[in-house]
Formats: sequence, C-alpha cells, structure tokens
Amino acid sequence: MRWCFSFIFVLVLVVLHLDGLARSRALATPKTASPKVSSPQDLLSFTHYLNTCPDVEGIIQNKVRAWVKKDYTLAASIIRLHFHDCAVRGCDASILLNHAGSERRAEASKTLRGFQVIEEIKAEVEKRCPGRVSCADILTAAARDATVLIGGPFWEVPFGRKDGKVSIAREANRVPQGHENVTDLIQFFQARGLNILDLVILSGSHTIGRSTCHSIQHRLSNFNGTYKPDPSLNATYLRVLKGKCGRRYNYVDLDGTTPRKFDTEYYKNLGKKMALLSTDQGLYRDSRTSPIVEALATQPELFTNQFAVSMVKLGNIQVLTGKKDGEIRGNCNFVNPY
Ligand code: HEM
Repeated sequence: MRWCFSFIFVLVLVVLHLDGLARSRALATPKTASPKVSSPQDLLSFTHYLNTCPDVEGIIQNKVRAWVKKDYTLAASIIRLHFHDCAVRGCDASILLNHAGSERRAEASKTLRGFQVIEEIKAEVEKRCPGRVSCADILTAAARDATVLIGGPFWEVPFGRKDGKVSIAREANRVPQGHENVTDLIQFFQARGLNILDLVILSGSHTIGRSTCHSIQHRLSNFNGTYKPDPSLNATYLRVLKGKCGRRYNYVDLDGTTPRKFDTEYYKNLGKKMALLSTDQGLYRDSRTSPIVEALATQPELFTNQFAVSMVKLGNIQVLTGKKDGEIRGNCNFVNPY
C-alpha cells in the first residue's frame, strides 16, 4: 500500500515537472508568423533586447555581483523583492513605486530590501540604452542572478515585461506574512497560476535569508506568559530563537542549519520541527504538501531543477506585454510624468 502511494506520488511529481519544463521550453521556441497569441507571457522572448540593449544582462549581472559582494544578505532580499512584485498585480515592478499608499509603503513591505540595487542598475541601463529596458525585467533578471550567486540554479529569463502604473498598499498587505494556513497559501498561489508543487519549491527560497523576530513572535511565548510557545517548534530550537529574539526587529536565519547554502536542509529542518516560519512548518504537516517536502529533502537535484522551472513561472505572472499595456519607466521609483 505504502509502495503504491509512493509510486503514485512520484508519478504526479514527474507529470507536474514535465508540465513545467514544457511551459518553460515553450518560451524558448522561436515565434512563427502564427496569428494565434494565447497569453501575454507568450510575447516574452529571450531575444527581446538583442537589438535595443544587447548588454543588459551583463550590466545587471555585474551590478548584482558587486552589491552581493559588499553585502551577502542582499541576494536573498532581491529574490524576495521579486516575489513580492509578482505576487501583486503580476511582475510589473509595482513594488518599486515609491509614493504615499503604494505597495512599497505597505506594512507587509516594511522589511523588503534591495531597492537601491535595482535603482542603480536602472541608472546604468538608462545611460546605455535610454527608455528601452523595463524595471520589471531588471528585477526579474536580478533575482535570477542573485540565485546563481548564492549557489542556486541558472535559468534563461525571457524579457519584454512592461512596468505597471498602479501600486496599492492594501493589495501588498495580502501577500502571505507567515501566519497563514496551508489552504490560504495554496489558494494564494493558485490565483496566480502557481500550483502546489510551485508553492513547496518556491518556499524553498527560505533555504537562505533572514526573518525579523516580528514575523515569528506568535510562535514564541511572551514575557508575561499569557500565551504559550508553538508546540510544533523543536524545544532546543525554541530556546535558541528566544535567545536571539530579545527585540522585535532582530534578525534570525530562515534556515537554522545551513543559512548561507542554497540546499535542501530547509526541507530536512521541517521534519525536525525546525522551520522558522509557521507557514513553512505547515507544509510538512499538511497531506497535500508533505509528500513533496519529503521527496525534496532527499533529492537535491529535483529541488534545483524544479526551482528554475517554478521561478520562470513566477516571473511570468500577469505580465504586461500588450502595446497599450504599461510603460518603460525612466526611474523605477515613479511612473513617467507624461
Ligand atoms: C509561501 C508563502 C510565503 C510566506 C508566508 C513567506 C513569508 C516570509 C517571511 C515572513 C519572511 C521574513 C520577513 C521578515 O523579515 O520579517 C520571508 C523572507 C523571505 N522570503 Fe518568503 N514567504 C513566502 C514565499 C516566498 C517565495 C515564493 C519566495 C521567493 C520566490 C520567498 C523568498 C523569501 C526570501 C529569500 C526571504 C529572505 C529575505 C531576506 O533575507 O531579506 N518567500 N518570507
């Protein structure tokens, strides 16, 4: 019976994986003169900047490398910034807009970092090819480069996203914060075209990076003991966290064992009740996600390969590619004045 279940699970995983590969390969297929355009993401292409800004990927890569060399923690922050962009109104750089009431000013965006990196890349790109490259494309490629720099996989980024003109704080506050249940997470991802496998794989980004103690406060008991620690936390790990979380905005590593390595320890930690976020621990408990967690804990190659596939899917969410959609911002922080 157990054998039969494992077989069915592996089969499902293979089908989901092949489906993802087929989608990302489809993006690589050169466009023919076919008039049938099925979705905006089909208009993205690997050769989008070939004539208008051929060096753009090199510029982005050099800048990300220089920043991460100065401050290693920025790699994780750039990956998260990309997720928060794509999760609200699609990958349209709406997270970068900096005005009263924008996503960037939302409560949920308080701990986002890396804005300066994207700003500096944009300034350099504007010098070389003015008005050509969108902030949304820059952020997407920067997230890929940040992943590679910390030892994760490489994938080709298709380009051609335009920048959005709308950014609303209230919408940013709907991005999961770490206290949701698995059903909430599945629904949030599905509404953006991402499946359960994508959810578990992309949560694997928490193999690197940090969280403020504020995000896990509900898992630790408070000083006067009016609420108790989360029983799904390993007792020794709980002690360590309490020691580190004297202040709300102290940082703790999301991966308690190998925080600087892009590896599958994050998934192994879930089995040891050592997830930092309760949402991550939930993936181990829920029957819809736990078989995937268990498979990933022992198959690093599956994680790396599927991570690349799921990141391409993330970067394709609700992209603006139509002639009348969006714009190419001159400055990533503001919509164009005209
Ligand atoms: C599944 C739902 C998710 C939840 C509930 C969640 C929640 C969180 C929380 C609470 C933090 C710490 C925030 C703080 O500083 O207090 C965090 C950090 C982070 N998240 Fe997620 N996240 C999710 C999905 C994702 C996805 C899809 C990605 C990337 C594709 C991602 C990448 C990251 C990274 C890299 C960090 C560390 C950032 C840094 O060190 O600056 N997360 N996440």
